[in-house]
Amino acid sequence: MSVKPGQELVTDAELKRYAKLIYDVAGVEISPQKKQLLSNRVRRRLKVTGIASFEEYYKKLVALPVTDDEWDHFLQEVTTHETYLFRDDSNWNWFRNEYLPQLVAETRTGGRPKKLRVWSAACSTGDEACTVACCAADAIPGYSQWDVKILGTDIGVGAVREANAARFNQRAMRLVPPALQKKLFDEVKGEPFWTPKAPVKSMMSFRQHNLLDPLRERPFDVVFLKNVLIYFNTESKLRVIENLQRVMQPGSMLVLGAAEGVSDLLNGYERVRPWLYRFVQATKPTIGKAGS
Ligand SMILES: C[S@@+](CC[C@H](N)C(=O)[O-])C[C@H]1O[C@@H](n2cnc3c(N)ncnc32)[C@H](O)[C@@H]1O
Repeated sequence: MSVKPGQELVTDAELKRYAKLIYDVAGVEISPQKKQLLSNRVRRRLKVTGIASFEEYYKKLVALPVTDDEWDHFLQEVTTHETYLFRDDSNWNWFRNEYLPQLVAETRTGGRPKKLRVWSAACSTGDEACTVACCAADAIPGYSQWDVKILGTDIGVGAVREANAARFNQRAMRLVPPALQKKLFDEVKGEPFWTPKAPVKSMMSFRQHNLLDPLRERPFDVVFLKNVLIYFNTESKLRVIENLQRVMQPGSMLVLGAAEGVSDLLNGYERVRPWLYRFVQATKPTIGKAGS
């Protein structure tokens, strides 16, 4: 079955209803300019489910609990999952060459335990979490003696399934330094994929989680929250930041994407670089300058 003849695009009223639904469930804003994109993506679900119109699909969706599989498929379609290993080299230069060596030094002199907890929030297919694991394997001497746990979470079940499979194609791998690729990955036999070696893979775990809800695991030393809040409006950003504070402790670091648009909302954080913040203390997030 296909979309009703003459209904290639959602109507303006349907766009509004879908946008509200997506915003209420995921915090993601769909602007009127995304009409074509949203139509294309919902149309894929119409094709799979055999539902004839955007309106009918909308009605089906609102009647289902958000825990239903169709919701997972829908959210997977309407959110953006672009990601790859070693995305934004400034982040990884800092993490690999400054943060981790400092941590290692503190375990030698300051009695700090050999322990590291990292959260890759909105991890998509796990490329960011895998980059964290690669940096840890490369920069922490004897890393297998350490207690390193990297949690990756995403709202999309499909993304989480792929993250658990830990298979990266050449495009995802394109920025991995060749020496690290050789040292830390195996080529999947007969297929154009690479997979991290067991000690790297064992540092990572993935599960579904909506950033609008509190996370049960805590505290984290570093949180990567990149290329997701860009799609949120101020109200949902504030909710995410409030949840974020609960999983941080003084000194925890927050790594943001280049265009997240939250610097004015990060009360209680000290700005280290435009994309890097140190958590100081829990403060109700409001619209005001970071660190003020
Ligand atoms: C563009 S990817 C970013 C991946 C990775 N952080 C990076 O920067 O490469 C954005 C991800 O955010 C996820 N996402 C969107 N809304 C979310 C929400 N409310 N809770 C958790 N994840 C969400 C999407 O499913 C998508 O996988």
